[in-house]
Amino acid sequence: MAKSRMQSRAVEAIVLDEDHMKQEEAEETLDESGDPLEESGRTVDSSDEEIEESVADDIARFEESFSGINSRFRLINRIGEGTFSTVYKAEDLEYNQYRNNWDIDEQEKRKWSSPGHRRRNSRRPHYVAIKKIYVTSSPMRIFNELELLYDLRGSDSVCPLITAFRHLDQVVAVLPYFQHRDFREYYRDMKVPEMRLYFRSLFTALRHVHSKKILHRDIKPTNFLYNPAQSRGVLVDFGLAERLGTEWQQCACTLGAEERSYRVSHSVYAQTQHRPSCYPKNDNRSSRRANRAGTRGFRAPEVLLKCTQQNTSIDMWSAGVILLTLLSRRFPFFHSQDDIDALLEITTIVGRKKMKETSLLHGQVFETNIPTYSDNGHSFEKIILWCTSRSSDKNSGVKKELEDDEKEAVEFLYELLECDPAKRITAKKALEHPFLTKDYEGSEDEDDNFDLVDV
Ligand SMILES: Nc1ncnc2c1ncn2[C@@H]1O[C@H](COP(=O)(O)OP(=O)(O)OP(=O)(O)O)[C@@H](O)[C@H]1O
Ligand SMILES: [Mg+2]
Repeated sequence: MAKSRMQSRAVEAIVLDEDHMKQEEAEETLDESGDPLEESGRTVDSSDEEIEESVADDIARFEESFSGINSRFRLINRIGEGTFSTVYKAEDLEYNQYRNNWDIDEQEKRKWSSPGHRRRNSRRPHYVAIKKIYVTSSPMRIFNELELLYDLRGSDSVCPLITAFRHLDQVVAVLPYFQHRDFREYYRDMKVPEMRLYFRSLFTALRHVHSKKILHRDIKPTNFLYNPAQSRGVLVDFGLAERLGTEWQQCACTLGAEERSYRVSHSVYAQTQHRPSCYPKNDNRSSRRANRAGTRGFRAPEVLLKCTQQNTSIDMWSAGVILLTLLSRRFPFFHSQDDIDALLEITTIVGRKKMKETSLLHGQVFETNIPTYSDNGHSFEKIILWCTSRSSDKNSGVKKELEDDEKEAVEFLYELLECDPAKRITAKKALEHPFLTKDYEGSEDEDDNFDLVDV
């Protein structure tokens, strides 16, 4: 291959025409990402070639409709079907014509291999993931995803964008293919030391994303492709991600405590408080609008409460839901029908008092007439013991407790599932938390050392 042909695949020139952008502004946000139970999230490896007839038909249709894709990629299988895209595993037929800075595994291998081995290696297949973004996605949304992926390049724990193509109204993003295991295969028996590695990897990714002032908005197991064999994961799916401060309007949560309480005491709510369950008859205040993008069960309280100044801490809450899922062995842990339902699910745990405080923080009022919610909720310790059938037996006097390492995990969990976003731990601080800095007993034997230095 002539050296002059070696080049990185360019993704710089993503230009959108302005009419499309304006059209998008008027559009209502399509904000519900896939139900975690309905998503695939499966790695296909040895059985790649045995594909179902319907998948083969789908691939054939895609190849036919996307002119020229066959000459660049050999589509192998369908590996994911999300709300906004279908993802295929493919062999990169033009791999050797480009500089492949994104291929960390290959670079590692090259470092240690002989020239002969390298030559043989250059002939072995190289895989990519082709994300076919549904044509119903607005141009602005597609542009946003590609642009953010491009801006986030340079971290081993965030999926880089190799290149992107458009044919008519169809856009595809080409990403490195990451071998990973389906969360549903390991959430029931992942040990606490392994959880430390999982979250070290996830927060290394989030620290990078947040340092670029970007909110992922859709942190959930299917968007973090974790490979337990390497104790390493990669964050994908920036389809709902946004830059910090996009469309911000002041929310009460950013006011000082004094000003906030002044506003509360002079609010419409305060005037109706002496008559419980009364609401203004002709309320002419406009309803509040805020970005609610995310996935059911993973949305932070402030997203559900329509905070208009959401920040990167919404991702930390979602990561907390993953930790709660792993500790309780229940997936999905929260399973609500809508935002109100979701708030009530969180209230069951944190209690009425905390939820009222949290709502007021964002200038909202939380009232419920469901008598079973306690004022102070339940501790995570108790919930995890219940979920794992280790409840204490009052009759026999046997008191069940969490294991020591589970207790450490729960301490960390409280920092993540903190209702006040200003008090919630950040990704940077999380990486310094004793739960994550504590050495994993087996880590000396592992090749993979996590990079705890900012990337
Ligand atoms: N680079 C990759 N390597 C391997 N598998 C991938 C890769 N990217 C995506 N996948 C698989 O495809 C699935 C869907 O991808 P992605 O989350 O990007 O799509 P989506 O349509 O935006 O999904 P969602 O429903 O979460 O919005 C992932 O959960 C994963 O199983
Ligand atoms: Mg996804």
